[in-house]
Amino acid sequence: MYFSKRWSLNLLTILGALSAATASPVPCPRACKINPSDLPDLIDITIDDISTHLRDGCFSSYQLTQAYIARINQVNDTFHAVQEINPDALAIAKSLDCERKRGKVRGPLHGVPIFLKDNIATFDKLNTTSGSYALVGAKVKRDSTVAAKLRSSGAIILGKVGLTQWSNHRSSNSTPGWSSRHGQITSGYYPGLRPEGSSGGSAVATDLGLALGALGTDTSGSIVTPAWRNNLVGVRPTMGLTSRALVIPISERQDSVGPVARTVKDAAYILSSIAGKCSADNYTSAIPFDKVPEYWRGLNKDSLRGAKIGIPSAVIKDIMNSTDPFRVEFEKAVDIIRELGATIHDNREFTAYEEYKAFTANFTLYSICGMEFKTNIRKYLNDLAVNPNNLHDAKDLINYTMSDPREEYPNRNVFLWEADTTKLPCDDNTCKTAWDLTQLRYRLGGEGGILGALSSAGGPDGLDALIVPAHYAPVDIAAIAGLPVVTVPLGFRSKDTVVEKDERGVVTTAPNEPFGLLFIGKAWDDQKLLNFAYAFEQKTQVRKKGPKQYKRPTAQIKDFM
Ligand SMILES: *[C@@H]1O[C@H](CO)[C@@H](O)[C@H](O)[C@H]1NC(C)=O
Ligand SMILES: *[C@@H]1O[C@H](CO)[C@@H](O)[C@H](O)[C@H]1NC(C)=O
Ligand SMILES: *[C@@H]1O[C@H](CO)[C@@H](O)[C@H](O)[C@H]1NC(C)=O
Ligand SMILES: *[C@@H]1O[C@H](CO)[C@@H](O)[C@H](O)[C@H]1NC(C)=O
Ligand SMILES: *[C@@H]1O[C@H](CO)[C@@H](O)[C@H](O)[C@H]1NC(C)=O
Ligand SMILES: *[C@@H]1O[C@H](CO)[C@@H](O)[C@H](O)[C@H]1NC(C)=O
Repeated sequence: MYFSKRWSLNLLTILGALSAATASPVPCPRACKINPSDLPDLIDITIDDISTHLRDGCFSSYQLTQAYIARINQVNDTFHAVQEINPDALAIAKSLDCERKRGKVRGPLHGVPIFLKDNIATFDKLNTTSGSYALVGAKVKRDSTVAAKLRSSGAIILGKVGLTQWSNHRSSNSTPGWSSRHGQITSGYYPGLRPEGSSGGSAVATDLGLALGALGTDTSGSIVTPAWRNNLVGVRPTMGLTSRALVIPISERQDSVGPVARTVKDAAYILSSIAGKCSADNYTSAIPFDKVPEYWRGLNKDSLRGAKIGIPSAVIKDIMNSTDPFRVEFEKAVDIIRELGATIHDNREFTAYEEYKAFTANFTLYSICGMEFKTNIRKYLNDLAVNPNNLHDAKDLINYTMSDPREEYPNRNVFLWEADTTKLPCDDNTCKTAWDLTQLRYRLGGEGGILGALSSAGGPDGLDALIVPAHYAPVDIAAIAGLPVVTVPLGFRSKDTVVEKDERGVVTTAPNEPFGLLFIGKAWDDQKLLNFAYAFEQKTQVRKKGPKQYKRPTAQIKDFM
């Protein structure tokens, strides 16, 4: 759709008058000059592209939404990433198009389709089930805070994407990316490749351009792990920066809601929309600023200049040997970061790393999440407006899951819930054991982990961030202390990588499998981490230069114009 000359001239006059009256210049609308076939491929398009073309009238949000729905229908049978499409998405897009025509543009996300992980509740026709039949048909009383914030920023909630069921808090013998509702999600980079988890649907759907981006949730790696596995940017915000109100929980002291996107800037736009204080989630009251930063404004390709970047060298040696491709690419990244003007500080270690490993090996660290889960899931279930299977606590979930054959019990067991309900020393998260374990968690992740490595022993000059190659352990160490992590694409396994599979035949290692570079920092340093990730991304453009998905949806916006 092209703007008529007269319409745009009128608007020019109005906007001209406005910009004369206000300090900040208002961008002048131009009639669309781009040929439809030159519009960006939806697998690459950014929020800046979309908002420019919407502004210029090159296409509407309605057409964009139609194109995304067509793409979902082209590839969902292969990848299983999208659980439900919002039946109201097109109507919402149309009303946002009308608003725009009337001159109301809410911000960069106006008219941009975004997915939510299926554990982020919405007060609409979409189900929120964490991938389980137990919650199909359940209704909440209002939107989760992050969903409400996205809507008020003008984003279109295009649907719910799949996940590792219950965000991986159910079985000890299931597979990342599996839920009873959608089956196994797979990644675009090799047939049958595990998407990793638990926000696997958020990652695969974003990677394939089935929406602009998605929200995921991260208790200990569930955003950043699938993000790196799918050649994406993932942000685990500081715990408490984003509200968890009406998000199906695991752990109130670790869960964090954050964006999965194809570029750092898009992730920053989405994070800016969802961050902020929320009376329904007390942890957000720790946010140290009154106004949420517009994170995208800080992004600068020179921001690694002068930055002090640490490397926990011994930990990296412990988790991967020197021939591991993750580590080989990491060493090159270190040189690039140095070239970009940062100083590199090796041997910044996690002093409690051995203790951390011992507590992980005997499930002690895990059990605190279990105590929180028991308390937090009870609250979520008892707050439901409609609870069709009458489920009120973890015991009810066990019983439901064992009795509904679609839940594939015992082929997929309920080990974690059984541990939560039978082996833990207290029934909620307020007893002394729970508090002691919380302190332990902060110490191992904080002064004995990330924070200790960042503060330089014997000097006042703390480091700005740590970098590590993609791996679960460092993310987990950050997560247990509620600290932020940003991952950005780093590299790919070689074309001749030998395929490995798990016991269910799901591919775990494959040719072209992507991996990432992690930036980890102090609480509330999310902006710094985004800045560094942006500088690295702009310099390297790994996502753009890397291998392509073996199957891509073909529908494009031009097909709907
Ligand atoms: C939610 O689940 C119900 C089944 O109870 C189904 O009828 C409905 O279509 C689902 N909603 C969406 C948007 O798919
Ligand atoms: C995508 O595929 C999965 C697995 O078959 C299915 O559960 C889901 O509903 C599908 N999504 C759409 C939008 O059709
Ligand atoms: C927030 O904290 C107050 C005071 O400690 C408590 O009464 C309230 O229940 C908490 N609210 C939530 C949502 O946890
Ligand atoms: C190094 O990694 C390779 C590939 O993952 C593995 O085959 C080899 O056993 C490892 N060597 C050591 C010493 O850990
Ligand atoms: C787990 O391991 C840690 C470290 O070795 C030890 O202190 C703790 O007592 C162990 N806990 C259990 C329940 O075995
Ligand atoms: C267990 O689940 C079954 C089937 O959903 C239900 O009929 C039964 O009442 C449940 N039992 C308990 C103790 O909740």
